Amino acid sequence: MGRCVLVTGGAGYVGSHTVLQLLLEGFTAVVVDNLDNSSEFAVQRVAQLAGEFGKNLTFHRIDIRDIEALEKVFSTTKFDAVIHFAGLKAVGESVQKPLLYYKNNIIGTIALLEVMAAYGCKKLVFSSSATVYGWPKDLPCTEESPLCAMNPYGQTKLMIEEICHDIHRADSDWKIMLLRYFNPVGAHSSGHIGEDPRGIPNNLMPLIQQVSVGRRPTLAVFGNDYSTKDGTGVRDYIHVVDLADGHIAALHKFFEDPNIGCEVYNLGTGNGTSVLEMVAAFEKASGKKIPLVMAGRRPGDAEILYACTAKAEKELNWKAKYSIEEMCRDQWNWASKNPWGYGLPDPAN
Ligand code: NAD
Ligand code: UFG
Repeated sequence: MGRCVLVTGGAGYVGSHTVLQLLLEGFTAVVVDNLDNSSEFAVQRVAQLAGEFGKNLTFHRIDIRDIEALEKVFSTTKFDAVIHFAGLKAVGESVQKPLLYYKNNIIGTIALLEVMAAYGCKKLVFSSSATVYGWPKDLPCTEESPLCAMNPYGQTKLMIEEICHDIHRADSDWKIMLLRYFNPVGAHSSGHIGEDPRGIPNNLMPLIQQVSVGRRPTLAVFGNDYSTKDGTGVRDYIHVVDLADGHIAALHKFFEDPNIGCEVYNLGTGNGTSVLEMVAAFEKASGKKIPLVMAGRRPGDAEILYACTAKAEKELNWKAKYSIEEMCRDQWNWASKNPWGYGLPDPAN
């Protein structure tokens, strides 16, 4: 049997794609998720897509703040590493309900770290975010760029990064990878797993997707007066499968490099794409028109954000390979096969 990895939040968008890549790479994966923002169907479809490796996937519906439940999982399985995706991620909601975010993301992470330490599992990959760069003055963002939280969600990512540095300083047995994701989009090429947020989406691509299948009439463009090529915000969109592969690269680094401490890596493509460019690429991939409404700037939004990817390329031997066209092609494939996400049965089954 391959190495065994605990995946918190593994039913979610990035988690489900990563679990699939883990299984295909020969890892055994145990997913814990409270399904607050996800569906168990995602886990079932991952098992199907993994074919013969699907048997190496186990799912527990658990809230990571439930220490007893987590201990039960650790007491029956020895984990080689943990990938920690579980967390709430809606920026606007975090401004409205800061305590919910601190309680879930911070307390949840502390509970997980305590149980890991108690069971002698001290290898952690953590989902951090490019949000920690705030509104950067200098681009591209390198891992050394100044950090700044713009909202409680971002604050939780910064705090967890600090907690991780502290536990590594206190005990060098901890090996930690803080992966700062830029903007994950797209879906697995099968079209059977993809992003399906509960409630009204916050992010650009799920909104474009919902317009394309007729679930919403228009897309609001948040600001067309930025100092960018067409006035709209620029981001570093990365295919979710590339991002998933970045986690596999991080795991390999753990097992191959004894000098790992608490390390930070940007996971992006290094390319900036504007909102209008993204809309045009999606329209081309889908053949659907996305009606736009020009709206004001969204408070707290950075103008331009994209990554310097040199460190991950050099040290993790990982580089994103999918283009914007491929991201939109796969997003549309998922959307057209599953216009209501996991809400209705997959037509392929
Ligand atoms: P997601 O909401 O699809 O997945 C998160 C999963 O965690 C969900 O399945 C949810 O049910 C679960 N969860 C939340 N709180 C939990 C708890 N207390 N106990 C157990 N399970 C819990 O989000 P995602 O897009 O897959 O993001 C995964 C991680 O990556 C998050 O930590 C997020 O902050 C981070 N991130 C995401 C993005 C992005 O744009 N998607 C960008 C940067 C960082
Ligand atoms: N946008 C619109 N209309 C919308 C939604 C978004 O024009 O309806 C624009 C935004 O203004 C921005 C771009 O599309 O210019 C991307 O916005 P997203 O909300 O998709 O992504 P953000 O970069 O704002 O934030 C996302 C996640 C954060 C994460 C960050 C990491 O929401 O949690 O990426 O880079 F931290």
